[in-house]
Amino acid sequence: MCGIFAYLNYLTPKSRQEVLDLLVTGLKRLEYRGYDSTGVAIDSPDNKNIVMVKRTGKVKVLEEAIQEHFSGGEYSKPVLTHVGIAHTRWATHGVPCERNSHPHRSDDGNGFVVVHNGIITNYNDVKTFLAKRGYEFESDTDTEVFAKLVHHLWKTHPTYSFRELVEQAILQVEGAFAIAVKSKYFPGECVASRRSSPLLVGIKTKTRLATDHIPILYGKDEKKLSPDQDIRPHGQSRELPVLPRSESTSEFMPLEEKEVEYFFASDASAVIEHTNRVIYLEDDDVAAVRDGTLSIHRLKKSLDDPHAREITTLKMEIQQIMKGNYDYFMQKEIFEQPDSVVNTMRGRVRFDGNAIVLGGIKDYIPEIKRCRRLMLIGCGTSYHSAVATRQLLEELTELPVMVELASDFLDRNTPIFRDDVCFFISQSGETADTLMALRYCKQRGALIVGITNTVGSSICRESHCGVHINAGPEIGVASTKAYTSQFISLVMFALVMSEDRLSLQQRRLEILQALSNLADQIRAVLQLDSKVQELAKDLYQHKSLLIMGRGYNFATCLEGALKVKELTYMHSEGIMAGELKHGPLALVDDSMPVLMIVLRDPVYVKCMNALQQVTSRKGCPIIICEEGDEETKAFSSRHLEIPRTVDCLQGILTVIPMQLLSYHIAVLRGCDVDCPRNLAKSVTVE
Ligand code: F6R
Repeated sequence: MCGIFAYLNYLTPKSRQEVLDLLVTGLKRLEYRGYDSTGVAIDSPDNKNIVMVKRTGKVKVLEEAIQEHFSGGEYSKPVLTHVGIAHTRWATHGVPCERNSHPHRSDDGNGFVVVHNGIITNYNDVKTFLAKRGYEFESDTDTEVFAKLVHHLWKTHPTYSFRELVEQAILQVEGAFAIAVKSKYFPGECVASRRSSPLLVGIKTKTRLATDHIPILYGKDEKKLSPDQDIRPHGQSRELPVLPRSESTSEFMPLEEKEVEYFFASDASAVIEHTNRVIYLEDDDVAAVRDGTLSIHRLKKSLDDPHAREITTLKMEIQQIMKGNYDYFMQKEIFEQPDSVVNTMRGRVRFDGNAIVLGGIKDYIPEIKRCRRLMLIGCGTSYHSAVATRQLLEELTELPVMVELASDFLDRNTPIFRDDVCFFISQSGETADTLMALRYCKQRGALIVGITNTVGSSICRESHCGVHINAGPEIGVASTKAYTSQFISLVMFALVMSEDRLSLQQRRLEILQALSNLADQIRAVLQLDSKVQELAKDLYQHKSLLIMGRGYNFATCLEGALKVKELTYMHSEGIMAGELKHGPLALVDDSMPVLMIVLRDPVYVKCMNALQQVTSRKGCPIIICEEGDEETKAFSSRHLEIPRTVDCLQGILTVIPMQLLSYHIAVLRGCDVDCPRNLAKSVTVE
């Protein structure tokens, strides 16, 4: 949901052209977060102004504009110290157009320019406040108020440092944000902050840093603005109160005295090609670089605050975020699944001793076993992984298991108790609805378990314990390998919960055995690719696709339909086969495309009934069935055969043809596979 990237080179000569290249590459890595419009801001060649370039559309369009207008001449001369900020947008306030693209500016003179991810919920109040003071707005965005607010504070408090100005502005805004600010009045400085939207700082130095920790500093005066003073009460015309200026000399702790480069980014994939040393900022941290020195400030001190932010070494490899020989990231990620599922199990499942250890939650297992119920909460694909594993969790834990869409869960103010265990499933670990639901449950005393793919993400940090699914970076907007890894993580959890249940040992062995064969079986399913492509050719001009199944495969129907919708813009619906006769059967005729999943499991006979209901209405479904199942295959000339596995893992093998099918239909329909329209990967707004 919007990507922020900023780059600061201190005593490290770089031409503006190089800086622009760096910014554009950073944006390309973050493009999956939003791709409605893009923009950058750098210093003008005479260093007296800020130049902005913005374009509607993808980063490529911006790149071309930059190449055309900002290369050669002054732009190729090296600059010792410089700050550039950049943004790729997923529109929330205002249609995608250049006027609404970031960076947004404080005034005609580009005094302060801001890139922002998230939503400033009280922007109307701030806007009214500023409009009364003569500010004119040129965009429909919430972000613009921030740039103008900083400018207003700068005018009214001329002695304030850049960081203090941004801090004061942050105190006045509500909602979720990650921001990076640049100013022509503070050359060579950059200030960034976050609240509920991710932001990290990458650090690149020639020599190793003297410390792995950046101390957290606090304003000398932690006086809180009283509500009747600040601007939130509907923008009445009051001057903004400000905190007394703290003495900046004692605040800046040198990190490194020599040349250094800093990268501010929404996620690690944008910095990994430059450095693997990063600091994940926490909510309300204000990170400021001045004279090449990074400092991290907090306005309020709370008892559980650590004294420093740790510099983390990223384990990610650059190859993981490149497409390699594949045409699209999604395609690469589908084909990575034989490896990603193994990575999810690596170091956790011991097939020889039939043992499973989930290091991140092992100390909490006794508490989880005593709980009242398990709640699995997520959005979209992550929610489907909960639907897919619910039945097994009920069977192996013998606990009530509730599966919830985070947005609906919050709408209902669902009752939560201290003895509930709540799982928050999220690839990005930043999804706003899921994060809000987590905080809701945490406040009510439940145990919070995070199931995420992103180390250092908000959900990761705010959970009591959890499982990293270790699927590796997922860049295609449509989630694929994260789904299968979430699925396996939840299966492993079910196995851990049942390890001392004698009556379940045979079942556990059967599942463990199936897990050990899974990677090879996924490889076998991927061999169906060309057959799936042929099916896609039959389907891509249709308007709709119904996907039916039940039991362990109902989640595949939901997930398959979601993939088809988001990638191909075709209508698709996942239908519980048991519900067919209660309505959806009316849709079936000889022209309606139907795909049915019919496997040899306890619901086989019921699935066959549904299949016959469809064929007797002249439907001709494509069938996903087990290898060699002639009886089922006889119902249709079009089928995909998948290897036999234990019932509770079938969903992993049946979802892969659906991923491939949606991918091929999208390609045939000329859709942008990695960046479907109107979507973004990390949904950090509610
Ligand atoms: C669909 C898809 C989305 C996400 C959903 C939750 O392909 O990717 O439905 O699953 O936005 O995102 P995370 O898992 O990051 O919380």
